[in-house]
Amino acid sequence: MKKIVMSVAALAMVAGFGSAVAGDAAAGKAKFAVCSGCHGATGAGNAALGYPKLAGQSAADIYGKLSGYKSGARQNATMQAMTAGLSDADMHNIAAHVATLK
Ligand code: HEC
Repeated sequence: MKKIVMSVAALAMVAGFGSAVAGDAAAGKAKFAVCSGCHGATGAGNAALGYPKLAGQSAADIYGKLSGYKSGARQNATMQAMTAGLSDADMHNIAAHVATLK
């Protein structure tokens, strides 16, 4: 199964589907530790404090939002600071992890 997933990811890369490349959810989970302080370990967020719920969003949505903050297309001081140190691979990995949260 893992091999199949890897081959699909490799094929997607060869085909050049930039942001459609599957991230590594396990690596993303480790990176998500710092995020969980605000968004919660389960991605439930905290509406009262203005931290949006992430659980239930697709990897493509999460990746798109993170890369938007990093590029400045999405303006928010907190999230721009949070994404400044993330690589493209980190954002794919985090997105893959968040997509597993219910
Ligand atoms: C200090 C609190 C804090 C931390 C830590 C934090 N965030 Fe956020 N996050 C926010 C706030 C506040 C917003 C809403 C920003 C806005 O209005 O655009 C947000 C928005 C987001 C969004 C957009 C959600 C949506 O549906 O619009 C994503 C995705 C996200 N954060 C992911 C992360 C990730 C991944 C990390 C860790 C690398 C992280 N956040 C760390 C506070 C935080």
